[in-house]
Amino acid sequence: MAQGPSGLLKGALYRVYERRLLKQVKSGPIPQHLAIIMDGNRRFAQELGLSRMDGHVEGKNRLESVLEWCMELGIKVLTVYAFSTENVSRQADEVKELMRLFKESFRAVGDDERVHKHRIRIKVLGDVSLLPKDVQEAIAYAESRTRDYDRYFFNLAVAYGGRQEILRGLKSIAAKVKNGELDVERIDEELFSSHLYTANIPDPDLVLRTSGEERISNFLLWQLAYSELYFTDVYWPGFRKIDLLRAVRSYQMRIRRHGK
Ligand code: FPP
Repeated sequence: MAQGPSGLLKGALYRVYERRLLKQVKSGPIPQHLAIIMDGNRRFAQELGLSRMDGHVEGKNRLESVLEWCMELGIKVLTVYAFSTENVSRQADEVKELMRLFKESFRAVGDDERVHKHRIRIKVLGDVSLLPKDVQEAIAYAESRTRDYDRYFFNLAVAYGGRQEILRGLKSIAAKVKNGELDVERIDEELFSSHLYTANIPDPDLVLRTSGEERISNFLLWQLAYSELYFTDVYWPGFRKIDLLRAVRSYQMRIRRHGK
Protein backbone atom coordinates (compact mmCIF):
# COMPACT_ATOMS: atom_id res chain seq x y z
CA MET A 1 0.00 0.00 0.00
CA ALA A 2 1.39 3.47 -0.90
CA GLN A 3 1.97 5.63 2.17
CA GLY A 4 2.34 9.39 2.32
CA PRO A 5 4.90 11.02 4.65
CA SER A 6 2.37 11.08 7.51
CA GLY A 7 1.61 7.37 6.97
CA LEU A 8 5.31 6.56 7.14
CA LEU A 9 5.71 8.60 10.30
CA LYS A 10 2.71 6.91 11.87
CA GLY A 11 4.13 3.49 10.94
CA ALA A 12 7.50 4.33 12.47
CA LEU A 13 5.89 5.67 15.66
CA TYR A 14 3.78 2.52 15.95
CA ARG A 15 6.87 0.34 15.66
CA VAL A 16 8.62 2.31 18.42
CA TYR A 17 5.51 2.08 20.62
CA GLU A 18 5.10 -1.62 19.85
CA ARG A 19 8.71 -2.37 20.83
CA ARG A 20 8.35 -0.43 24.10
CA LEU A 21 5.10 -2.17 24.93
CA LEU A 22 6.57 -5.59 24.08
CA LYS A 23 9.50 -5.00 26.43
CA GLN A 24 7.20 -3.80 29.20
CA VAL A 25 4.76 -6.72 28.82
CA LYS A 26 7.50 -9.35 28.59
CA SER A 27 8.82 -8.32 32.00
CA GLY A 28 5.50 -9.21 33.68
CA PRO A 29 3.49 -12.42 34.20
CA ILE A 30 2.32 -13.92 30.91
CA PRO A 31 -1.04 -15.72 30.69
CA GLN A 32 -0.55 -19.41 30.07
CA HIS A 33 -3.80 -19.76 28.12
CA LEU A 34 -5.35 -17.05 25.95
CA ALA A 35 -8.81 -17.59 24.44
CA ILE A 36 -10.12 -15.35 21.66
CA ILE A 37 -13.58 -14.70 20.26
CA MET A 38 -12.60 -13.51 16.78
CA ASP A 39 -15.39 -11.19 15.69
CA GLY A 40 -15.94 -8.63 12.95
CA ASN A 41 -14.62 -10.25 9.76
CA ARG A 42 -17.64 -9.22 7.72
CA ARG A 43 -17.85 -5.68 9.10
CA PHE A 44 -14.13 -5.23 8.38
CA ALA A 45 -14.71 -6.34 4.78
CA GLN A 46 -17.76 -4.15 4.37
CA GLU A 47 -15.96 -1.04 5.60
CA LEU A 48 -13.19 -1.60 3.05
CA GLY A 49 -15.54 -2.52 0.20
CA LEU A 50 -14.24 -6.11 0.14
CA SER A 51 -16.28 -9.28 -0.21
CA ARG A 52 -17.49 -11.16 2.85
CA MET A 53 -15.12 -13.98 2.03
CA ASP A 54 -12.18 -11.60 1.73
CA GLY A 55 -12.97 -10.64 5.33
CA HIS A 56 -12.82 -14.26 6.45
CA VAL A 57 -9.55 -14.86 4.55
CA GLU A 58 -8.05 -11.74 6.17
CA GLY A 59 -9.28 -13.12 9.51
CA LYS A 60 -7.53 -16.41 8.86
CA ASN A 61 -4.30 -14.61 7.92
CA ARG A 62 -4.53 -12.53 11.08
CA LEU A 63 -4.93 -15.69 13.14
CA GLU A 64 -1.57 -16.95 11.85
CA SER A 65 0.10 -13.71 12.93
CA VAL A 66 -1.56 -13.81 16.34
CA LEU A 67 -0.33 -17.37 16.89
CA GLU A 68 3.21 -16.19 16.14
CA TRP A 69 2.88 -13.21 18.51
CA CYS A 70 1.60 -15.52 21.24
CA MET A 71 4.65 -17.76 20.87
CA GLU A 72 6.93 -14.73 20.93
CA LEU A 73 5.32 -13.68 24.23
CA GLY A 74 5.48 -17.16 25.72
CA ILE A 75 1.73 -17.87 25.72
CA LYS A 76 1.60 -21.66 25.57
CA VAL A 77 -2.07 -22.27 24.83
CA LEU A 78 -4.19 -20.36 22.31
CA THR A 79 -7.86 -21.23 21.83
CA VAL A 80 -9.97 -19.45 19.21
CA TYR A 81 -13.67 -19.47 18.45
CA ALA A 82 -13.73 -20.13 14.70
CA PHE A 83 -17.28 -21.40 14.13
CA SER A 84 -20.12 -21.66 16.62
CA THR A 85 -23.10 -24.00 16.59
CA GLU A 86 -25.16 -20.83 15.83
CA ASN A 87 -22.96 -20.02 12.80
CA VAL A 88 -24.23 -23.23 11.17
CA SER A 89 -27.47 -21.39 10.39
CA ARG A 90 -25.81 -18.56 8.44
CA GLN A 91 -26.66 -18.28 4.73
CA ALA A 92 -25.86 -21.54 2.94
CA ASP A 93 -23.36 -19.94 0.52
CA GLU A 94 -21.40 -18.30 3.34
CA VAL A 95 -21.26 -21.58 5.29
CA LYS A 96 -20.12 -23.38 2.15
CA GLU A 97 -17.33 -20.86 1.52
CA LEU A 98 -16.25 -20.97 5.17
CA MET A 99 -16.12 -24.77 5.05
CA ARG A 100 -13.85 -24.61 2.02
CA LEU A 101 -11.59 -22.17 3.88
CA PHE A 102 -11.53 -24.48 6.92
CA LYS A 103 -10.70 -27.50 4.77
CA GLU A 104 -7.82 -25.72 3.03
CA SER A 105 -6.60 -24.16 6.28
CA PHE A 106 -6.49 -27.40 8.26
CA ARG A 107 -4.65 -29.19 5.44
CA ALA A 108 -2.19 -26.29 5.25
CA VAL A 109 -1.76 -26.21 9.03
CA GLY A 110 -0.96 -29.94 9.04
CA ASP A 111 1.79 -29.33 6.47
CA ASP A 112 3.04 -26.00 7.83
CA GLU A 113 6.74 -26.19 8.66
CA ARG A 114 6.33 -23.57 11.43
CA VAL A 115 3.87 -25.89 13.19
CA HIS A 116 6.41 -28.73 13.13
CA LYS A 117 9.38 -26.53 13.97
CA HIS A 118 7.67 -25.11 17.08
CA ARG A 119 5.98 -28.42 17.96
CA ILE A 120 2.46 -26.97 18.07
CA ARG A 121 -0.33 -29.40 18.85
CA ILE A 122 -3.53 -28.71 16.91
CA LYS A 123 -6.86 -29.69 18.42
CA VAL A 124 -10.44 -28.99 17.40
CA LEU A 125 -13.05 -28.46 20.11
CA GLY A 126 -16.61 -29.09 18.98
CA ASP A 127 -19.04 -31.47 17.37
CA VAL A 128 -17.10 -32.24 14.18
CA SER A 129 -19.87 -34.61 13.06
CA LEU A 130 -21.82 -31.45 12.10
CA LEU A 131 -19.14 -30.58 9.53
CA PRO A 132 -18.80 -31.85 5.95
CA LYS A 133 -16.76 -35.05 5.56
CA ASP A 134 -13.85 -33.38 3.77
CA VAL A 135 -13.53 -30.82 6.59
CA GLN A 136 -13.58 -33.63 9.16
CA GLU A 137 -10.81 -35.36 7.22
CA ALA A 138 -8.70 -32.19 7.04
CA ILE A 139 -9.11 -31.69 10.81
CA ALA A 140 -8.11 -35.31 11.49
CA TYR A 141 -5.05 -34.75 9.26
CA ALA A 142 -3.88 -31.67 11.21
CA GLU A 143 -4.60 -33.29 14.57
CA SER A 144 -2.87 -36.57 13.77
CA ARG A 145 0.23 -34.90 12.29
CA THR A 146 0.70 -32.89 15.51
CA ARG A 147 -0.58 -35.31 18.15
CA ASP A 148 2.84 -35.89 19.75
CA TYR A 149 3.70 -32.20 20.17
CA ASP A 150 3.55 -30.43 23.52
CA ARG A 151 5.46 -27.16 23.31
CA TYR A 152 2.48 -25.03 22.24
CA PHE A 153 -1.21 -25.87 22.01
CA PHE A 154 -3.46 -24.34 19.36
CA ASN A 155 -7.13 -25.18 19.85
CA LEU A 156 -9.82 -24.20 17.38
CA ALA A 157 -13.45 -24.27 18.48
CA VAL A 158 -15.36 -25.33 15.37
CA ALA A 159 -19.07 -26.33 15.43
CA TYR A 160 -18.68 -25.50 19.11
CA GLY A 161 -21.24 -24.41 21.71
CA GLY A 162 -20.53 -24.13 25.44
CA ARG A 163 -23.95 -25.35 26.56
CA GLN A 164 -23.82 -28.24 24.10
CA GLU A 165 -20.36 -29.15 25.43
CA ILE A 166 -21.70 -29.16 29.02
CA LEU A 167 -24.69 -31.35 28.04
CA ARG A 168 -22.40 -33.75 26.21
CA GLY A 169 -20.18 -34.06 29.30
CA LEU A 170 -23.22 -34.49 31.51
CA LYS A 171 -24.60 -37.29 29.33
CA SER A 172 -21.32 -39.13 29.31
CA ILE A 173 -21.08 -38.90 33.13
CA ALA A 174 -24.73 -40.00 33.50
CA ALA A 175 -24.07 -43.02 31.28
CA LYS A 176 -21.12 -44.04 33.48
CA VAL A 177 -23.25 -43.69 36.62
CA LYS A 178 -26.04 -45.69 35.02
CA ASN A 179 -23.82 -48.64 34.09
CA GLY A 180 -22.16 -48.67 37.51
CA GLU A 181 -18.75 -47.45 36.32
CA LEU A 182 -18.95 -44.25 38.38
CA ASP A 183 -20.24 -43.41 41.87
CA VAL A 184 -22.28 -40.17 42.02
CA GLU A 185 -20.21 -39.07 45.03
CA ARG A 186 -17.09 -38.99 42.86
CA ILE A 187 -18.49 -36.26 40.61
CA ASP A 188 -16.58 -33.05 41.32
CA GLU A 189 -15.26 -30.10 39.29
CA GLU A 190 -12.15 -31.96 38.22
CA LEU A 191 -14.09 -35.00 37.02
CA PHE A 192 -16.57 -32.80 35.17
CA SER A 193 -13.75 -30.84 33.48
CA SER A 194 -12.26 -34.10 32.28
CA HIS A 195 -15.49 -34.83 30.36
CA LEU A 196 -15.32 -31.64 28.30
CA TYR A 197 -13.62 -31.08 24.92
CA THR A 198 -10.95 -29.20 26.89
CA ALA A 199 -9.99 -32.17 29.10
CA ASN A 200 -6.30 -31.78 30.10
CA ILE A 201 -6.20 -28.16 28.88
CA PRO A 202 -5.86 -25.54 31.66
CA ASP A 203 -8.71 -23.00 31.91
CA PRO A 204 -8.12 -19.73 30.03
CA ASP A 205 -6.40 -17.00 32.05
CA LEU A 206 -7.56 -14.31 29.64
CA VAL A 207 -10.49 -14.20 27.21
CA LEU A 208 -10.43 -11.52 24.54
CA ARG A 209 -13.21 -10.49 22.14
CA THR A 210 -12.81 -8.14 19.20
CA SER A 211 -15.25 -5.85 17.35
CA GLY A 212 -16.77 -4.07 20.33
CA GLU A 213 -19.27 -6.77 21.29
CA GLU A 214 -19.20 -7.50 25.01
CA ARG A 215 -20.77 -10.94 25.23
CA ILE A 216 -19.45 -14.46 25.78
CA SER A 217 -21.77 -16.00 23.16
CA ASN A 218 -21.70 -19.59 24.42
CA PHE A 219 -17.88 -19.82 24.42
CA LEU A 220 -16.13 -22.00 27.05
CA LEU A 221 -18.89 -21.37 29.61
CA TRP A 222 -17.58 -23.76 32.25
CA GLN A 223 -13.90 -23.03 31.65
CA LEU A 224 -13.94 -19.24 31.93
CA ALA A 225 -15.40 -19.11 35.47
CA TYR A 226 -12.29 -17.28 36.77
CA SER A 227 -10.83 -15.84 33.54
CA GLU A 228 -10.09 -12.16 33.04
CA LEU A 229 -12.21 -10.71 30.21
CA TYR A 230 -10.94 -8.10 27.75
CA PHE A 231 -12.94 -6.41 25.00
CA THR A 232 -11.57 -4.28 22.19
CA ASP A 233 -13.32 -2.33 19.42
CA VAL A 234 -10.99 -3.39 16.62
CA TYR A 235 -12.38 -5.85 14.02
CA TRP A 236 -10.57 -9.19 14.06
CA PRO A 237 -8.74 -8.83 10.69
CA GLY A 238 -7.46 -5.43 11.88
CA PHE A 239 -6.21 -6.77 15.23
CA ARG A 240 -2.61 -5.58 15.67
CA LYS A 241 0.26 -6.74 17.82
CA ILE A 242 -0.22 -3.65 20.00
CA ASP A 243 -3.84 -4.73 20.60
CA LEU A 244 -2.59 -8.09 21.90
CA LEU A 245 0.07 -6.39 24.02
CA ARG A 246 -2.51 -4.00 25.49
CA ALA A 247 -4.75 -6.94 26.38
CA VAL A 248 -1.89 -8.73 28.16
CA ARG A 249 -0.87 -5.49 29.89
CA SER A 250 -4.44 -5.08 31.16
CA TYR A 251 -4.35 -8.70 32.39
CA GLN A 252 -1.09 -8.02 34.23
CA MET A 253 -2.45 -4.90 35.91
CA ARG A 254 -5.55 -6.77 37.03
CA ILE A 255 -3.78 -9.80 38.46
CA ARG A 256 -1.36 -7.48 40.23
CA ARG A 257 -4.39 -5.75 41.82
CA HIS A 258 -6.07 -8.88 43.04
CA GLY A 259 -2.80 -10.65 43.72
CA LYS A 260 -3.27 -13.94 41.85
C1 FPP B 1 -16.38 -13.74 12.97
O1 FPP B 1 -16.63 -12.65 12.12
C2 FPP B 1 -15.64 -14.82 12.28
C3 FPP B 1 -16.13 -16.07 11.90
C4 FPP B 1 -17.49 -16.53 12.15
C5 FPP B 1 -15.29 -17.05 11.18
C6 FPP B 1 -13.88 -17.03 11.65
C7 FPP B 1 -13.03 -17.83 10.79
C8 FPP B 1 -11.73 -17.56 10.58
C9 FPP B 1 -11.01 -16.40 11.14
C10 FPP B 1 -10.92 -18.52 9.80
C11 FPP B 1 -10.49 -19.63 10.70
C12 FPP B 1 -9.28 -20.27 10.26
C13 FPP B 1 -8.94 -21.57 10.44
C14 FPP B 1 -7.50 -21.94 10.42
C15 FPP B 1 -9.91 -22.65 10.63
P1 FPP B 1 -18.10 -12.47 11.58
O2 FPP B 1 -18.28 -13.29 10.36
O3 FPP B 1 -19.06 -12.81 12.71
O4 FPP B 1 -18.15 -10.96 11.21
P2 FPP B 1 -19.21 -9.88 11.72
O5 FPP B 1 -19.13 -9.92 13.23
O6 FPP B 1 -18.68 -8.60 11.16
O7 FPP B 1 -20.55 -10.26 11.18
